[in-house]
Amino acid sequence: MIIVNEQETLFHVCTKETSLIFQVTTTKHLLMNYFGKRLPDINTEYIIKDIERVSYLSDTDLIKDFKLEQLPQVFPSYGITDLRKPAFEFMFEDGSRTSDLRYNGYDICVGKSKLDGLPQVEPNKDTDSIVFELIDDIKGIKVFITISAHYSENAFTQSVKVINCSEENVKINRLMSVNLDFLNNHFKLLTLSGAWGRENEIKINPIQQGFQGVESLRGASGHGQNPFGALLTPHTTETYGEVYALNFVYSGNFILNVEEDMHQNIRMQMGISPFDFEWTLEPEQVFQSPEVVMVYSDQGLGKMTRIFHALYRNNLLQGIWSRKERPILLNNWEATYFNFNQEKLLDLATKAKEIGIELFVLDDGWFAERENADSSLGDWYPNQKKLGGTLAELADKINQKELMFGLWFEPEMVSPNSKLYLEHPEWAIQCDGRLVQQSRQQYILDLANPQVCDYIVESISNVLRSANIQYVKWDMNRNFTNLGSTYLSPKKQKEQAHRYILGLYSILENILRQFPNVLFESCAGGGGRFDPGMLYYMPQTWTSDDTDAIERLRIQQGTSLVYPLISMGCHVSAVPNHQVGRDTPLRTRGIVAMEGNLGYELDLLQESSESLQNLKKQVHFYKKIRKTIQFGQFYRLTELDNKNQYAWQVVSNDQKEIVASYVQILAKCNTLSKRLKLSGLPHGEIYLEVESGQKYTSEELMYIGLSVPRIRQDYSAFQWYFVEE
Ligand code: DGJ
Repeated sequence: MIIVNEQETLFHVCTKETSLIFQVTTTKHLLMNYFGKRLPDINTEYIIKDIERVSYLSDTDLIKDFKLEQLPQVFPSYGITDLRKPAFEFMFEDGSRTSDLRYNGYDICVGKSKLDGLPQVEPNKDTDSIVFELIDDIKGIKVFITISAHYSENAFTQSVKVINCSEENVKINRLMSVNLDFLNNHFKLLTLSGAWGRENEIKINPIQQGFQGVESLRGASGHGQNPFGALLTPHTTETYGEVYALNFVYSGNFILNVEEDMHQNIRMQMGISPFDFEWTLEPEQVFQSPEVVMVYSDQGLGKMTRIFHALYRNNLLQGIWSRKERPILLNNWEATYFNFNQEKLLDLATKAKEIGIELFVLDDGWFAERENADSSLGDWYPNQKKLGGTLAELADKINQKELMFGLWFEPEMVSPNSKLYLEHPEWAIQCDGRLVQQSRQQYILDLANPQVCDYIVESISNVLRSANIQYVKWDMNRNFTNLGSTYLSPKKQKEQAHRYILGLYSILENILRQFPNVLFESCAGGGGRFDPGMLYYMPQTWTSDDTDAIERLRIQQGTSLVYPLISMGCHVSAVPNHQVGRDTPLRTRGIVAMEGNLGYELDLLQESSESLQNLKKQVHFYKKIRKTIQFGQFYRLTELDNKNQYAWQVVSNDQKEIVASYVQILAKCNTLSKRLKLSGLPHGEIYLEVESGQKYTSEELMYIGLSVPRIRQDYSAFQWYFVEE
């Protein structure tokens, strides 16, 4: 909802529970004077008036004591009187970089316009948008800032469009998608950081005067830093405290910049990383930034999570699979790696069917000469010798077992040892005259080149058309080095990283249009591109290559902060675990993998008949709770020793079913049984715990809690399933 005052100087952009208030000054500066819990009234000009002027800052427009550097600006310019990091930096043909954006009008529209070539959170019936037009009068550059209020979901999105209305070329050296100025520093900064196999660890750090934040320069959003950051007021927990969170709907290089200035104000920005980025806009050309999602919670991290989850489930994930329960899959990767033939695959599929699995996924190694990671990426035709026939025949045989069939691809890559590379060495990302560095014996294709994108669309589509393939795992296993494009002119080389992502999005757009019924799962060596940009095209992501259940507790907890459980691929794998060698009970592996889309990734032919019976029960049980897990309300349960104990709960949307899970990593001597309190239940209901047959009121579950037995073994796990009486 958007309310404007009579003088058209105050703009209240609000959702059901949150307000953003903008103000235009007499000098035509656009300020954001409030962001937080929903206010009843718009008249908040006093917030700006009350700011007392401090010294040693520049005056603006020769107005004594009018100091832009103290004001909460929406899109601060470079080179005038605010000397904090600007939201943008343009360079003009005369070499000057100073700009001065002033308010030049607004427009309100119902819904939200489509961002050209970029993913976005889609509007609902009650979404409204306001577009502020800013102009640099001297150079004639216009900037349009679109803020959309997703009313019932309690979230905002913002993106920025630059139009070169001048007669000269303009270079964009920096363009943030959002800039938030807070008039205090009472925050800590939460980010999701990690590495391959250790994605999305929650890091909370105090903010100090100066710059802090996270950035990715890897070409992908990356294993190291997720494009997410949140400011937390002191003592914020799952249920208490204020949270201001940003999440970038983009899959490439990004920056989250948090600056505490000289007067203990905080500026928080998010956008494409300005490092090694430059974009030339010719007259009349347009540059569209990706969008940022902004979420405010007045009830800690738990509420923030539920806002993101609902928004992404309902408005980000696209296509028929966004609303459908996801199939339980068996992936052959950790079962066979590259070492398989038709017989082995069919035997695995038979066992998979026996235990109730619904989808069989053939991972890496099915094409061209690929027997290890040394060759063949780019040559997307089946190795019929290895598969014992055509792909269509294999898919049919799997289908005859009443299993769906899925296939792995890594379309953005080329092996030096491939037919494609022989034919088109110029298609690899490379820097003229320098050795092209390899990672996993592969190069990256230059998706800034439309011919390369066409090749990928054609070669992948041919395979998808050739057989009944109902699922695709879209992998991406290395980051950029030797950035350089044989296609782009020398002047445009710094556009390559962003053009790569635009190329990737255009490929996905095209393939998804052609194959709307295929379920896509994205993967970048696990969670190296687990971001809302990829989720827009592919409604699930392989959370991490680390399949150890105990390691997964931390990874999934961090990932769950922002991304809905239905988007998280979580598999039960063999013991000892292939990444860390740990031996975890099957029950624990199952309970942890049921925190997302359950799958399996182990050689079922090596499992004992007892283990197969237990696997069958696990699969059967997940089918019962699947709808709740994939579409319900998620709660991380607190009052735990967070390093040793993890617990979470999902409540179905009709509140008739609850699944609660508890895992303790290490057993401890001489401890008592404890109680685990549930959250978010409707008052006055009675729930039956299905396994024990015990009944509880919702108040008992929330205020007394469930008894967690005394733990006598490392890696113990418990799970409770309740149905309303
Ligand atoms: C990396 C992925 O994350 C794995 O699951 C597997 O698909 C391999 N690539 C295959 O090369």
